[in-house]
Amino acid sequence: MAVPSFRLDDSVALVTGAGSGIGRRLAIGLAEMGADVGCLDLPQSDLASTAEAIGETGRRAVALPADVTRAEALAEAVARVERELGPLRLAVNAAGIANAAPAEDMPVEQWNKVIEVNLNGVFLSCQAEGRALLRNGGGSIVNIASMSGTIANRGLTQAHYNASKAAVTQLTKSLATEWCDRGIRVNSVSPGYTATPMNRRPEVAERVARFEADTPLGRMATVDEMVGPTVFLLSDAASFVTGVDLLVDGGVTCW
Ligand SMILES: NC(=O)c1ccc[n+]([C@@H]2O[C@H](COP(=O)([O-])OP(=O)(O)OC[C@H]3O[C@@H](n4cnc5c(N)ncnc54)[C@H](O)[C@@H]3O)[C@@H](O)[C@H]2O)c1
Repeated sequence: MAVPSFRLDDSVALVTGAGSGIGRRLAIGLAEMGADVGCLDLPQSDLASTAEAIGETGRRAVALPADVTRAEALAEAVARVERELGPLRLAVNAAGIANAAPAEDMPVEQWNKVIEVNLNGVFLSCQAEGRALLRNGGGSIVNIASMSGTIANRGLTQAHYNASKAAVTQLTKSLATEWCDRGIRVNSVSPGYTATPMNRRPEVAERVARFEADTPLGRMATVDEMVGPTVFLLSDAASFVTGVDLLVDGGVTCW
C-alpha cells in the first residue's frame, strides 16, 4: 500500500478565525498544502491580508466576514464558499476569545460571552459545515480547543475559558460518533501557549516567562507549529483518526 498523503490538493476548506493568529496561519497552511480556502472572521478583522497570502500560494481564497455565533451567517458563508470554490470537504474552527476575572466576581455576561463564542460558535460552525459535508459525501473537521480544556492554567482566572475548551473536546467526540458512519471525521487540536495577539492581553503578556517555565520544551509555540498537526488530522494520513484531542503543548500536560 502506498504511504497515505498528507496533502490536501484541490479540496475546499473553510477556516473560522482566519483574520488573526492561529486561524490565519492555518488558513494559509491549508493553501500551502493544496486547498482552496474560505476565510471567515468578524467584519472588522483583517481577512484581506489572509486572502492575499493565500493568493501568493497559487490557491484561491474567499473572504467571509461573519460572526460564528449567528447560524444564518454561517449558512450563508458555507453557501458562498461552495458557490465560489466548490463542494466543501474540510473545516477548521479556530475563532475564539479569551479574558479573565476571578470566579467570585465574574459577571454572568462575561461568562456567557465566552461560552457563546468558544462553545456555541464551534457547535454552530460544525453544524453548518457538517450539513455541507453530509451532502457532499464526507470530509474532515478540526476544532481548535486548548490545553486549557485539560489543565487549569497556573495563575490565570479564566474558569469560563477553560470550561468552554473542555466542552469543545467533548463536543468533538460527540460529533465524531454521530457522523462516523457518514464519512465525516471530527477531531480537535489543543494548542499550548502560542505567540499570538491573544497572548498580548495585559493579564497574560507579563506571564510569558512563567508560561515558558511551565512548558517542558522551554518556550511558547509559534503559529507555524500548529499547521502540521492540523493538516495531519484533515488529511488522508489520518483516515482512521476520529474523536481525538491532539495536544500540541510542548509537553505542558506532562507536568
Ligand atoms: N494563543 C494561544 O496561546 C492559544 C492557546 C490555546 C488555544 N488557543 C485557541 O486558538 C484559537 C485562535 O486563537 P489565537 O491565539 O489565534 O487568537 P486571536 O485573537 O489572534 O484570533 C482569534 C480570531 O477569532 C476571531 N473571532 C473572535 N470572535 C469571533 C466571532 N464571534 N466570529 C468570528 N470570528 C471571531 C477574532 O476576530 C480573531 O481574528 C482560539 O480558539 C483560542 O482559544 C489559543
